[in-house]
Amino acid sequence: MYGATRYPLTRVVSRHCCAKACTATNSSMFLSRRGNATAALSAKGSKGQMVTHRTSKKQEQKMKMSGSIHTNGRTVYLNGSFLPEQDARISVFDRGFLFADAVYEVSSVLQGKLLDFDGHVKRLERSLEAIQMPMPLTADAFLQIHRRLIAENSLEEGVVYLQITRGNAGDRNFLPTPQAEATVVLFTQKMQLVENPKAKTGIRVVSIPDQRWKRCDIKTTQLLYQSLSKMNAKALGVDDAWMLDSHDNVTEGTSNNAFLVLADGTIVTKSITGTDILHGITRAAVVRVAAEMDMQLQERAFSLKEVHTATEAFSTSASSFVMPVVELDGVQIGDGKPGPVACRLREIYIQESLKRAV
Ligand SMILES: Cc1ncc(COP(=O)(O)O)c(C=O)c1O
Repeated sequence: MYGATRYPLTRVVSRHCCAKACTATNSSMFLSRRGNATAALSAKGSKGQMVTHRTSKKQEQKMKMSGSIHTNGRTVYLNGSFLPEQDARISVFDRGFLFADAVYEVSSVLQGKLLDFDGHVKRLERSLEAIQMPMPLTADAFLQIHRRLIAENSLEEGVVYLQITRGNAGDRNFLPTPQAEATVVLFTQKMQLVENPKAKTGIRVVSIPDQRWKRCDIKTTQLLYQSLSKMNAKALGVDDAWMLDSHDNVTEGTSNNAFLVLADGTIVTKSITGTDILHGITRAAVVRVAAEMDMQLQERAFSLKEVHTATEAFSTSASSFVMPVVELDGVQIGDGKPGPVACRLREIYIQESLKRAV
């Protein structure tokens, strides 16, 4: 197991990659974040007026040239307006920015249509309820916004990202301002989902302790642990990490649900009766597809040891669909190639989801 107990997150990076290269990557990453923040954030001034903290045209041009500002010329949605991405501004006092007081959804788009949209919007409602926020718009209004963004950005294949925060409190205060309106942001991202080259080779993962808070069923933007874990996995030369509870049972991947296939063909995935994993929308679709195909599926805890002796493993998420996992902690799973169950489920999932796409 790789993780904080054996290898502190910060140290793994320097242990497993060239220190010079890492410093360069990290510093440019933080520079880029700062560059974006400086150019895009605005704040209330001492007299309450909106003060846009802008860099000069010359500075902006320089940052663009150094790759600090990535403008893709997209139209994004922000609080009722469809805007060019570079004109969408959020306050520095927004609680999403200060406290990760926000929930999000990612819906995939194939052939210009949304997959599993109903499931995503229902989970959004559930996440909001769990953090005591009302839905700021109806499900249908969200669908219309998604559709307009897909059309305006000519998105054939990729994802739509949606985030709702508890809004701008006008100051930093742990207690929210009751009258603050939610901030609603949506944007599109082009991605190669069907012809994802990783689906052909499978991915390699490492195990890490699950050190997240205990409400992983809420899709919040508190993603630092997952993000650091992905950085770690990359530094170790693998693709992702699967998280383990205190009994060495797999909870889920950093941004996906985890499955294995036993020698008799039974598919196993952790149940969603608790609050320790996300109720994945792709997971639900795969469970449904497996039942329709009369495949045996058990929803129960499974251990790290079981993964090592499984014939196949795979993960599911909106942006990767069904992704074969061919190695865990350096141990090959099955024959080390994407297995027939994962490949079949991927194919059927894509076919069936397209039929229901909206
Ligand atoms: C922790 C976690 N588990 C599972 C998933 C997969 O969920 P879905 O299939 O709804 O994308 C995600 C997706 O972001 C996730 O972050």
